[in-house]
Amino acid sequence: MTRATSPDHGMGTGLDLERTGTVRRLAEQHASERGALMVVLHAVQSELGHIGRSDVEAIADVLNLSRADVHGVVSFYKDFRTEPSPEHTVHLCRAEACQSVGAEALYVDARRAFAGRDDVEVDEVFCLGNCALGPSGMIDGRLHGRLSSERLLGLTEEWVR
Ligand code: FES
Repeated sequence: MTRATSPDHGMGTGLDLERTGTVRRLAEQHASERGALMVVLHAVQSELGHIGRSDVEAIADVLNLSRADVHGVVSFYKDFRTEPSPEHTVHLCRAEACQSVGAEALYVDARRAFAGRDDVEVDEVFCLGNCALGPSGMIDGRLHGRLSSERLLGLTEEWVR
């Protein structure tokens, strides 16, 4: 649902203005650095959790770039979020070593288990550096190895609604 006063839809609230002020401060802080756009985008995401449409406008303005330029970079890199993070995340490795020990089936099962849940994000990653203990995954930012569908459900059982 969108509100007329949301940061991305016109008139700003006090919080929206505060957010924009933070984005502008971060952009100004890094504007003269080499590769400033990437540095600013990482800083905004790190401090505010995601990079919204109004953030793109503010960054473009401070760095003297077009909105399309900034948006293009944000949308190109999967690590940049354009929406706030969900409450829970399941990031499963689908790289070769984990694939060879069942990562594909685990990923399919996880997608199915959390289908329709907007509070849980299931996504793929490619190697978490835990190859000897695959299938590997990050559950709410914590690394787990030797995952199975059963184990995943056990680790997330308190997320049941
Ligand atoms: S291949 Fe999965 S952790 Fe390296």
